Amino acid sequence: MAGYLVSDTRKVTTHRFIEMKQRGEKISMLTSYDYTMAGIVDGAGIDGILVGDSASNVMAGNGTTLPMTVEQMIYHARSVVRGVNRALVVCDMPFGSYQIDRHEGVKNAIHIMKESGCDALKLEGGEEIIDTVKGILDAGIPVMGHLGLTPQSINKFGTYAVRAKDEAEAEKLRRDAVLLQEAGCFSIVLEKVPSNLAGEVSANLTIPTIGIGAGGNTDGQILVVTDMLGMTKGFSPRFLRRYADLNSVINNAIGQYVADVKACDFPNEQESY
Ligand code: KIV
Repeated sequence: MAGYLVSDTRKVTTHRFIEMKQRGEKISMLTSYDYTMAGIVDGAGIDGILVGDSASNVMAGNGTTLPMTVEQMIYHARSVVRGVNRALVVCDMPFGSYQIDRHEGVKNAIHIMKESGCDALKLEGGEEIIDTVKGILDAGIPVMGHLGLTPQSINKFGTYAVRAKDEAEAEKLRRDAVLLQEAGCFSIVLEKVPSNLAGEVSANLTIPTIGIGAGGNTDGQILVVTDMLGMTKGFSPRFLRRYADLNSVINNAIGQYVADVKACDFPNEQESY
């Protein structure tokens, strides 16, 4: 695995996630949706890659994650898996694929695992889906939970604002986190919740929490890769740190290519047969 930026090139497993929490090592995660990006992300030493249903927004241009289908998630996850050697690959179960009942959820979970080759699945929700989570775990599939701002419920929430600011919702989140851990989940994403609450929940669990917009006291962090690389424009939530301005880099490169073609400068003799 030449080119890896980390010395430990062993494949990351769900057990390694838990070990990282035990020794106080923060877990790094990013999303990816395709082979080329996943290879770059994996090569840079990321611990986990989420094939997020945010593909709906950043790959397909939809306003929400709701339109994603099981077959579309399989296509993205299979592409990512082909590009990854080391990172744990987790695939989102899309809206509608696990909310109906346990039987349907387990069936779709097995289908995604078989067809994509990913390592684990992520589902949004707590108590209301716990029976399905248990069924998927019983089938031998590792599950990552997702609490707080769960984008598949955006039409119920009505806004992408911070969740669990009031005590009733915070208390439900605490309960849901424990339920998911007791069911056997290996990790839980906490999205857009107050930092204090995320820290408290993380301290009370033995499984790692992965935060996005949840402050620095979770056991790991995740960002959407196209956002942190500055490819997407016009999305600037407070929690997003941009590590590059790839939108400008790509724009300038393509502008230069267009100019070279127009000026008959590309291709030159060395670039021709
Ligand atoms: O779909 C996604 O990208 C996610 C992350 C934001 C956690 O669920």
